[in-house]
Amino acid sequence: MIKVLFVCLGNICRSPMAQFVFKQMVEERGLADKFEIDSAATESYNEMCHAGIHYGTREILTAMHVPFEEHYSRRIRPSDYAYYDYILAMDDSNIEDIQSITGPDTDNKIHRLLDFANKPRNIKDPWYTGNFDETYWDIVEGSDAFLKYLKM
Ligand code: 4NP
Repeated sequence: MIKVLFVCLGNICRSPMAQFVFKQMVEERGLADKFEIDSAATESYNEMCHAGIHYGTREILTAMHVPFEEHYSRRIRPSDYAYYDYILAMDDSNIEDIQSITGPDTDNKIHRLLDFANKPRNIKDPWYTGNFDETYWDIVEGSDAFLKYLKM
């Protein structure tokens, strides 16, 4: 079982989108039983508000026929570092914030999702850009590249 935790700032836009896009991708490839997939935030304000998935993420997942369930924001915990095999962040600042919670990445588990792509880069935050389409296609690219990296 490969345990993957997608992480972004708020856990309401990018990381739940990645969680459900990646889940669909592994299901379509017959790999569902090989993965445990979840997502988390680096900040706690959305957890405190019991915030669910952002409307823009729901809208693009629905438009792209990606099944999703309700997901409530939760902040990453220090114990997640030992539990998960891959902690996949959306941008550089997530990487710093994750390590401020989990401690240094001694087991090389923390990566940006698009570090596996041909052009490594951040996934911009649609909370600020409003561009959920761009986020979706970046996540598809990163998820596919990550599975190639795993040779799956
Ligand atoms: P996310 O986007 O990190 O992709 O979930 C954000 C969601 C909420 C906030 C910031 C970014 N916020 O400030 O509440």
